[in-house]
Amino acid sequence: MGHSAAGIAVSGLPATVDFALIGHQESWRAAADVLAVLRGPEHTPLPDDEIKDILPWIPPRAVCHVRVGSISSGVSDAKAHGLYIDSFIPPDRLGAAYTHENIARVRGAAAYAIKAGARIVSLGGFSSILIEGNFDQLPERQDTAFTTGNTLTVGFIVQGIKKMCRLAGRDIRRSTLLIVGATGDVGSGCARCLSPLVKRMLLSARNVERLRALASELETNGVQVELATGLQQFSQEADVVICAASLASPSLLLGRITPDAIVCDAGYPKNLSPNAQMPGVKIFFGGLGQITGGLTFAPDFHGILNRHPFPNVVHGCLLEGMALALEGRFEPFSHGRGHITPERVEEIESIAARHGIYLAPLYNADGPLEDRLDRQMESPRA
Ligand SMILES: NC(=O)c1ccc[n+]([C@@H]2O[C@H](COP(=O)([O-])OP(=O)(O)OC[C@H]3O[C@@H](n4cnc5c(N)ncnc54)[C@H](OP(=O)(O)O)[C@@H]3O)[C@@H](O)[C@H]2O)c1
Repeated sequence: MGHSAAGIAVSGLPATVDFALIGHQESWRAAADVLAVLRGPEHTPLPDDEIKDILPWIPPRAVCHVRVGSISSGVSDAKAHGLYIDSFIPPDRLGAAYTHENIARVRGAAAYAIKAGARIVSLGGFSSILIEGNFDQLPERQDTAFTTGNTLTVGFIVQGIKKMCRLAGRDIRRSTLLIVGATGDVGSGCARCLSPLVKRMLLSARNVERLRALASELETNGVQVELATGLQQFSQEADVVICAASLASPSLLLGRITPDAIVCDAGYPKNLSPNAQMPGVKIFFGGLGQITGGLTFAPDFHGILNRHPFPNVVHGCLLEGMALALEGRFEPFSHGRGHITPERVEEIESIAARHGIYLAPLYNADGPLEDRLDRQMESPRA
């Protein structure tokens, strides 16, 4: 028997569900595409206003099976089977006014995963933010382990920053790194990994006490640290930026950054406002990995659940659960807030790499980035 809701069934659940991925859609376009697949090709797509009316009434539920393959040294190896469970948080209801309702949705999605017998569950996007990484807020977990997936996310953000610096011919050791959302789970993990490498760090968030605590921890690495609650308050311009604030919508306007800064937008939803005019700035979307051993969805949600210009690219938070399932480590690898260390990042990167999961090719809203950067480096005036 399959689980079903809203008249749509995910049938034929196999005996074992190695992993479950809990997510929500970043935009109404993405939510509409998910509903269109669930309704089936025989139905005409619903008008946008009807989708906005219906979505808040859909309970959390599995929308598809996910199969992921492991590949190491070019040889296909283990496979893992899972479910993608959508919590159906409406894309415009991520703000504080809906916290109570959204936690109930995450709990509902978690209950679905536990009932399906998932051995490990990754909490994508706002799912872990809403419960602040505290799995005690979830229903009785039985044999199901949960992970926020933030350690692998940090790994891919840091790898992306290093790669962008290489591609742009920058020496990261001379850089001034700004982290927006620095005291968050992702932001503080990035800060710990990068503080030994950069010259100066600018840390930003709203709560000044948490900023101070992080700054004094990082200063022991010998890096210069400045903190501010407003981006215009820093005394220096940043030339490398990580945006990892838990913003309900893309609304961030960066303050004092160099005209050719490297900027990683790691937010889900994105942090950066589409109105930000930064023509010379090199923006990339961070925290993404690519599965080289194969990824399939049934029904076929390719290009809908993973809306990237490259195949088999998935957010780091979801990939962490898949990598742990392939490794047979059904444990709460990432939990709580502020515990991510360079050692743990290295460990999860090794697990992911053992199964053919690597940093995704870099891209931004204009498409793939790496060839464009190569061309710019070859002829700087092009
Ligand atoms: N790319 C991926 O695969 C991936 C994976 C996981 C998470 N994410 C995304 O990464 C972001 C951070 O996640 P997280 O788990 O680290 O969240 P978190 O632990 O809740 O941290 C959020 C951070 O943002 C700050 N913040 C919140 N609102 C702010 C505002 N209006 N202005 C400035 N700072 C603000 C918070 O500090 P204050 O409250 O003191 O301001 C905190 O430093 C989210 O967008 C999340 O969806 C992406």
